[in-house]
Amino acid sequence: MKKLKGKILPIKLYGEEVLRKKSEPVKELTEEINQFITDLTVTMYEKDGVGLAAPQVGRSLRIFVIDPFWFKEGHKKDPFVLINPEFKEFEGETSMEEGCLSLPNIYAKVVRAEKVIIEGLNQNWEKVKIEADDLFARALQHEYDHLEGILFVDKVPKLKKIPFLKELKKLEQQVKNNNLTNS
Ligand code: CO
Repeated sequence: MKKLKGKILPIKLYGEEVLRKKSEPVKELTEEINQFITDLTVTMYEKDGVGLAAPQVGRSLRIFVIDPFWFKEGHKKDPFVLINPEFKEFEGETSMEEGCLSLPNIYAKVVRAEKVIIEGLNQNWEKVKIEADDLFARALQHEYDHLEGILFVDKVPKLKKIPFLKELKKLEQQVKNNNLTNS
């Protein structure tokens, strides 16, 4: 992978409205959006994420980037960008612990499809269709949810949420306080 030239974007945290909005489809790959995608990718790596969706940096656009294995030994950075994604198939079910850059320090098991087929456009505006399973399929579903305004904690049963309810409230309060000081 050639070196990405981009800037680190601030991550929106739980409680920010943009994380709850349904994102808009991208109509055209302008130079500005292309640079934004590179910034999104740079930000994901810089924050040690395995996926990042545009709303998480404050842009309500149907774009995400995923790289579930880059931090593992023997793996190189290999970002997978998807624009205007659409699931075509879901198969099976699996439960695994997830986290999210917008919900720091919160982890919980989430049930997701084991295999998926998804279509969309890549960063060259070419149609891509991929079949994914395991961690990659999970990341695709997690990031896609961000485009719909859904967060992984929404998929955790009520009782299982109890251990981190305080943490969620704290994040919400932080966002409220920040918004007050900025307005
Ligand atoms: Co996330």
